[in-house]
Amino acid sequence: MQEPSSPAATLAADPTVELARDVAEGLARRPKQVPAKYLYDALGSRLFEAICELPWYTITRGECALLSAHAEAIMRGPGACDTVVELGCGSGAKLSMLLSAVEGRPTDVHLVDISETALAQSVQALSRHRGALLTTHQAAYEAGLGAALQRAGGAGRALVLFLGSNIGNLSSEEADRFLSEIRSRCRPGDRLLLGADLVKPEAALVAAYDDPLGVTAAFNRNLLVRLNRELDADFDLDLFEHRVLWNAGASRIEVHLESLADQLVCVRGAGCCVDVAEGERIWTESVYKYEPEGIVALGARAGFARRAQWIEPESRFALTLFEREP
Ligand code: AVI
Repeated sequence: MQEPSSPAATLAADPTVELARDVAEGLARRPKQVPAKYLYDALGSRLFEAICELPWYTITRGECALLSAHAEAIMRGPGACDTVVELGCGSGAKLSMLLSAVEGRPTDVHLVDISETALAQSVQALSRHRGALLTTHQAAYEAGLGAALQRAGGAGRALVLFLGSNIGNLSSEEADRFLSEIRSRCRPGDRLLLGADLVKPEAALVAAYDDPLGVTAAFNRNLLVRLNRELDADFDLDLFEHRVLWNAGASRIEVHLESLADQLVCVRGAGCCVDVAEGERIWTESVYKYEPEGIVALGARAGFARRAQWIEPESRFALTLFEREP
């Protein structure tokens, strides 16, 4: 069973053409699927920000607690870096915690994101840091990282941030490929700070993705709102339910939209109509959860050695600091 493709950032030549192609391909598969990257339209991004505030979703709080507790060690410890590149900069709040530890010290800061809004928000949040020289790259992660590290040139070390457990939305093969890409763009001695959520009891994992307030359900079902709007589809929102499963064997949460009836759905902008049976699911997201040693092994396979690993016990979230080996 092939899982939905990851939300890895890409810049499409024509976003609507790419969306139509991906939806037509995904709905022709068994099980049906739509790539998770399409969850993040303007409303989806706002709903995701709300998810990060939910009591049941502990990733953001756990990671922020670790960043604030270990900012000095990350930014000032042995092998400290004078260039920082954040892949997927969000609001800039997390990077701001790290820059507070080197206030006034000259630091080249590169922000990489496909979202112009996220880049603008980050620049606003970070411009108060004295010494931080900000450069934005509106680009896919790999291309943005290449441009940032080329520009950085010189002798100092670079620190690459890949936070928020975004690694969890990649399959094992995709994660290996992605970290190898990062490594190929780094120099020996450069560092990678990786935030990853850990395996925890099933009830806690499911509650994080099927919260009692229904915010994550709205985030998921908004995908259908988007397809109705952008691809002239006729998904009936009342006939699809948010469904979340923990697949212990694959160590992942699977997020679906389950049909409550036999129905025919037409997506005119993608040139297709599909039968959807009662109980049939459209797979919209996969979220991999790690063991601490699994994260170390992931880095090692790509050529990164662990320098430190910090675990927040309540949320069971890990920050791992790696260094590129020669
Ligand atoms: C962006 N990503 C790390 C989130 C996660 O936890 O996998 C996306 C998300 N989906 C539903 N809730 C949060």
